Order: sequence, then C-alpha cells, then structure tokens
Amino acid sequence: LDAFIGIDLGGTKISAVLLDRGGHIVRRNERPTYAERGVDAVIRQITDGIDSLFSGNGPSFHPSIMGIGVATAGVLDSANGIVKFAANLRWKEVALGPFLSARYRCPVRLYNDANAAAFGEWQMGAGIGTDNCLYVTVSTGIGCGIISGGRLITGVEDSAGELGHISIDSNGPRCSCGNYGCLERYCSGTAIARIASEQVRLMKVDAALISKLAGNDPEAVTALTVAKAAELQDPLALRLLREAGTALGIGIVSVIHLLNPEVVIIGGGAANIGEPLLEPMRAVVRERGISSMTANVKMVWSALGKDAGMIGAAALIMGE
Ligand code: BGC
Ligand code: NA
Ligand code: ZN
Repeated sequence: LDAFIGIDLGGTKISAVLLDRGGHIVRRNERPTYAERGVDAVIRQITDGIDSLFSGNGPSFHPSIMGIGVATAGVLDSANGIVKFAANLRWKEVALGPFLSARYRCPVRLYNDANAAAFGEWQMGAGIGTDNCLYVTVSTGIGCGIISGGRLITGVEDSAGELGHISIDSNGPRCSCGNYGCLERYCSGTAIARIASEQVRLMKVDAALISKLAGNDPEAVTALTVAKAAELQDPLALRLLREAGTALGIGIVSVIHLLNPEVVIIGGGAANIGEPLLEPMRAVVRERGISSMTANVKMVWSALGKDAGMIGAAALIMGE
C-alpha cells in the first residue's frame, strides 16, 4: 500500500490522515497540539500522530510512506519546509519539513491551511466538478484558497489567497500584518469574540445574556458564546453576527469580482455559527456584487468540514 499522509497542524489540534493512492481514508487520528509546551512538544505530537497511523493494524499492514503534506496557518518558506512565523503555534523559524523528511525518509511539503483545504474540497468535497471555486475559512483568522482554471493558485511562495488581510477600511485598526482594517479584524472567530467581549467589559445592558453565557467573565467570551446567544434570539448577538457576516460578504464580493468563481465554499468554525453569519453574507454578495457575476454563484458549506485541511494536504503531496 502506498501511503500519503496529511497533517492539519492547528493551534489547538493536530489531525492526521493516511490516504491510499485512490484518495480513500485508510486511517486517521487527532490529538491536542500542546502549543504552550514548546516546539519540541508539538513536534512530538505530530510524530505520535503519524506513527499511530501505522500501529495496531495487524502484521499484514506495511504501507510505505510516499509523502507527507502538512497544512498550517502562518508564514511559510515552503520551498525549504520552514514555518517562519506562526502566532497560533508560537513558532518562529522551525524547520519542520527537513525534520520530518529525515525521520520518515520521504518528501515533505508545507502548505497554507486554507490552500490545502481548498484543494481537498475541490478534489473530494463541495468543489467537485468545477474548475473555478473559492474556499473561505472563518476560524481563528480568515483564510482563503483559490482554484482557478482547474488548478490551485499558489503564488510565488504558496501564499496566494490571504483574504483575511485584504483591507475593507483604510482607516480601520492596524493589523499584525502591517495593513489597516483587515477583513479578519471584523469577522474572524477571534474578532467576533473580541468585539462581544468588549461589550461585556463595558457592562452594556444589552450584553447581559452574552455575559451570563460566559459566566460573567469577559475573557471567557468566544464566538460560540455569541452564536449560542443568537440562537436564543439575543438582539446584541444577532447584530454582532450580522455585522460580521456583512464584513465577510464585502470581502467575498471583492474576490468574486477578481476571480469569477462558480462556487464559494465556506468552512472553519463558522459552521458552528451557521445562518446568522451566512445569511447577511449572502445578502451582501447579492446586493453589492456585479449581478451577472454573483447571480449564479453558489455559496455552500464545506463538505469535508474540519477534515478539509488534512485531506487536502495529503492529496496535494500525492500530486507532487
Ligand atoms: C492567516 C492565513 C490563514 C488563515 C486561516 C490568517 O490569519 O494569515 O494564512 O490561512 O488565518 O487560518
Ligand atoms: Na490561503
Ligand atoms: Zn492583516
């Protein structure tokens, strides 16, 4: 059996999958990242994840590792397999690729998380059958991967698709990337949590339900807290999600204008928020987009969910 390994290296979880040449999932597993324990601990979690794909399968199970693809957020030097900077992992200049490649004696490639997920959705998920689709993840940050003309757009350093760092307000707050008013400051999970937490901290009367759901601790407010409050028809939560969804729509209109996709696939933790975020997004796309370009765009949920990154990374290394 030829084994292609895909890893999704996230700030809280590491998931690993083994695909055969036909793209079928043979084995998979998931474990905590332990980013707070330092680089070596995280690397240990990665190798444990890979090793576990091969253990406990009985004596007849001897696949050979043909390649390992790793999907991760952050700034990558993919040619050299280096994670240059990843805030969620607390990593700087980690030569993950060469390490894994020496240990497992196979080619290893690092990919942007959203680009890998886009490839996965295109090959095996919600993008099957189209040559032009966008994948947008709303999670800790906002990420995007572009399939155009039947191929993944990588850019010169595999960094194409940084939708989260496109400005929607030139007078907006400074982002860690250097730009101002970046999209992800308005509609990522982190942003939704931060904005709601501010309301709780200011003890705004209308933030009472969000506050209560977070145990009256502003620090404990997450995007999920806001989603729960919205489910209970809390007016503030609904307004915050409408504003976030509107911002997301404004960003997506620009990408639709740029690339003329047939399908826009939404993934990431946003799936846990659902319609209160998506409905305003769709409305903005219809209202503000060039109608001939937006009228037929399908806006759908990711089919692979949180598996998109690891499956995409394995599929990408299979194609190298
Ligand atoms: C990063 C992207 C990443 C996205 C989703 C953004 O903050 O800049 O590289 O794809 O978050 O994780
Ligand atoms: Na990207
Ligand atoms: Zn930015």
